[in-house]
Amino acid sequence: MRATPKYVVIDPAAGKIDRRIFSEQAIYDDEMEKIFGRAWLMIGHESLVPAIDDFFHTYMGEDPVILTRDGQGRLHALLNMCRHRGNRVCRVDDGNAKRFMCTYHGWTYRNDGALEHVPGESEAYYDALDKPSLGLIEAHVETYAGIVFATWAKDAPSLEAYLGDARWYLDTVFNRRDGGMQALGPMKWLEPVNWKTMVDNCSDNYHVPTSHLSSARVQSRYLGRPRLSHEDQFASPNKHAFVNGHSITFRDADDNAPRYMHGVSKDTMRLFQEYHDTTMPEIERRLGTLRARRVQLANHSIFPNGILGLRLALPRGPLKTEFWHFVLVDRDMPEELKRVIRIGSQANNGAAGMFEQDDVDNWRQVTEASTSRLGRRHPQDLSMGIGHAGLHPDYPGFISDRYISENNQRLFYRRWEDFMNAESWATIPLDPVEARFDGTATMRSPWSPPP
Ligand code: FES
Ligand SMILES: [Fe+2]
Repeated sequence: MRATPKYVVIDPAAGKIDRRIFSEQAIYDDEMEKIFGRAWLMIGHESLVPAIDDFFHTYMGEDPVILTRDGQGRLHALLNMCRHRGNRVCRVDDGNAKRFMCTYHGWTYRNDGALEHVPGESEAYYDALDKPSLGLIEAHVETYAGIVFATWAKDAPSLEAYLGDARWYLDTVFNRRDGGMQALGPMKWLEPVNWKTMVDNCSDNYHVPTSHLSSARVQSRYLGRPRLSHEDQFASPNKHAFVNGHSITFRDADDNAPRYMHGVSKDTMRLFQEYHDTTMPEIERRLGTLRARRVQLANHSIFPNGILGLRLALPRGPLKTEFWHFVLVDRDMPEELKRVIRIGSQANNGAAGMFEQDDVDNWRQVTEASTSRLGRRHPQDLSMGIGHAGLHPDYPGFISDRYISENNQRLFYRRWEDFMNAESWATIPLDPVEARFDGTATMRSPWSPPP
């Protein structure tokens, strides 16, 4: 007989979810171990460390990590903790360095993590220190189209298997151009919210006409965006897909319109259309006709904490999240267009972005409700669209029948349970890769040195 799992937080038949997962310290501590201790985590982008000996300081969950490019061009993710007593060996956000010296007693590490120099190695340690075993703790690193992921789990599947068929959709943004993408930023801020509230929001298009009504009205008036209404959302042919914990929403485009991006306005539309038209032959070669012309990735999350592009929800306790907002642009895009997208992205989803402020207020209150002794006796309701999702002949993953659905949220919390109840990767299910990846695009990016 199988043991009862420790975490049963969602009732998939009724869509009810236990609010304690948003506020309890013990559950949060388990998340750090069972999810952030073994999932593939987005930690940066190769464009942040383009040259030999470049480094960028980042995080895996709460753990400080230095992303380095060593003398051979190889990437490393190194725990920023001196193996002597635990001081940080790097105290800046980024730079270029062959070595990191701990400022407590002077132990010095190479940028591939090896412990190179210990003051008094002969005199104080009598040459008895086992230096090779005292390098910086290193995570396993792999990249997808220039986005850098890392995991602490030695038994993790490949990043390619982890992303699975979600990549079929992700490629339509992250893998379009031969020259790859480049990351700008990040902008960083703290939010009084549980990290999961913003992840599950990535597939929540139900909130858009309500939460963002005033922001959308401003945009209709001044930027010429179409008006937003519930009717349009309910009638939308757009879709939701779910693969391996990754939540995708996408547009089934039947015209030759560029994908909507922040920065598009009646004044800049011409720039986007020109760029779309001139790059389409290259994109079609890389992605095949269906994905290049008809599939446009929209809001999405990459399990566990990647949000809408290269944006990270870094947990800082059950009731706090540090948010990192990068803007990803095609490296070979005209500078004018990069500027328009950067400003548009910040104006919408930056720290002072109109849409972001609407959203954070919701997430804060959802988090707070889970701290209420009375409130937490009553579960969240995620019942929308139960029984209205399944396999689709054209699109990989588990597809919701309608654009407005809570199918992805229910499956996200099921995935959360998979991780929280598993003793190792051996018992975490993975969907097989079944999609047809037409075109020449692969996991590799032009930032990587040749294999
Ligand atoms: S703590 Fe780093 S050298 Fe002592
Ligand atoms: Fe929103």
